[in-house]
Amino acid sequence: MSNDSTLRITAQLREWIAGAAPGARLPSTRSLVAEHQASPVTVQKVLRALTAQGLIESRPGVGTFVRAVRTARPADYGWQTAALGSPQAPLRPVSTAMRSAPNDVIAFHSGYPDRELLPERLVRAALARAARSDAALSPPPAAGLPELQSWFAHELRASTPVGVTPPATSDVIVLPGSQSGLSSVFRALVGSGQPLLVESPTYWGAILAAAQAGVRVVPVPSGPEGPDPEELARAFDETGARLFYAQPNYANPTGAQWSANVGAQVLDVVRRHGAFLVEDDWAHDFGITTDATPLAVHDDSGHVVYLRSLTKSVSPGIRVAAMIARGPARDRILAARGAESMYVSGVLQAAAFDVVTQPGWQTHLRGLRHQLQARRDLLVSSLREYAPLAHVEHVPRGGLNLWARLPDGTDVGQLVRDCEAEGVIVAAGDEWFPAEPAGPYIRLNYAGPNPGAFQEGARILGRVLERR
Ligand SMILES: Cc1ncc(COP(=O)(O)O)c(C=O)c1O
Repeated sequence: MSNDSTLRITAQLREWIAGAAPGARLPSTRSLVAEHQASPVTVQKVLRALTAQGLIESRPGVGTFVRAVRTARPADYGWQTAALGSPQAPLRPVSTAMRSAPNDVIAFHSGYPDRELLPERLVRAALARAARSDAALSPPPAAGLPELQSWFAHELRASTPVGVTPPATSDVIVLPGSQSGLSSVFRALVGSGQPLLVESPTYWGAILAAAQAGVRVVPVPSGPEGPDPEELARAFDETGARLFYAQPNYANPTGAQWSANVGAQVLDVVRRHGAFLVEDDWAHDFGITTDATPLAVHDDSGHVVYLRSLTKSVSPGIRVAAMIARGPARDRILAARGAESMYVSGVLQAAAFDVVTQPGWQTHLRGLRHQLQARRDLLVSSLREYAPLAHVEHVPRGGLNLWARLPDGTDVGQLVRDCEAEGVIVAAGDEWFPAEPAGPYIRLNYAGPNPGAFQEGARILGRVLERR
């Protein structure tokens, strides 16, 4: 009995069954043997398999029939768990910030700015031009399109103080979003089982990337002014860590912006410990009352690995970011990138470069600043008036989010569910803590759709909090 003939007969009979009416009688075994020129054993085997798949049923002494009700067998992937063993890292669900929501809810949860805050005209024109360019048909260099690398390097160069050597174009690696850069940097510069210091709270995606890379996350408390440099030094000493992941400007979720003094002290601690600072400048374009000055401009000895994303400011549809790193660290990260994705779509790089080099880009950023300010202030005042129990300890000078502390003892999960039942989606703060949450918090994004509904959203949140 050949395996080939089993497969062939199975395929042909499946096709026959698919076109037959439920209850139709299959040809007898003898005619199937003759028709397919196979042995009776092979035909019986095929019929048993089709029966097990719920496609046919045999009525002894009567014949074999197409099943009237074709019951789908419940999927059983139990063997996979046995084969894979327990996951290396706890499987965290994807963050609330990534959830899409229907139009009729008041959405404070999203991690992305609403469409009205994007430079839509610039993006559409740039994509049309990119589609007509060579980039549409040829692979770009692995580290990125040279003109885009140069743009990222120049942006840092423009604020580099005298006496510090600015980054070179070749220090820039273009990424398909900074999230994948986090994974690469944790794999390439930390390694499985090794400690990684992170601010707490911090970006959920960094916690996720660290878990997947198998690194051991060590939280360092961080407030509106950033981490305490002495605490950071102690964490380096105690753990032997060589890398600190942080967001000095408009941190997600707290909105914190480090003072120049804290930044200088943190850099000093990092240098003294022969370590790296991974500076995630995700909100570079979202300054409101200040600008985001990267700490990376003060470093020319390769201690800062700088991540700069255009995803949220240019368009989540053109997902382009960059990593600026120097020395062997840059080479190791580039090697990791090669293994992970080889290169970033040249069309997307060309489109991103087009957008950020149009005169309209700066005009857009100026308008965006005002819109973010108006939205932030509206949400802050709405919370103060209608939901005073959601206390915003720090009004951020930029970014997209408010970080609100709830009364002690609040069951945040229940609160989130109760709000959602009334049409308001908020994100539970727990997702931003690498270990136990420091308190009951929620994150509210003020860059989402329909700011006209902010007051109503705050009213509902306030009501839900009152009746806890
Ligand atoms: C702090 C932070 N870093 C990185 C990212 C990921 O950015 P990208 O979309 O460029 O991958 C995000 C996205 O929300 C973020 O908030």
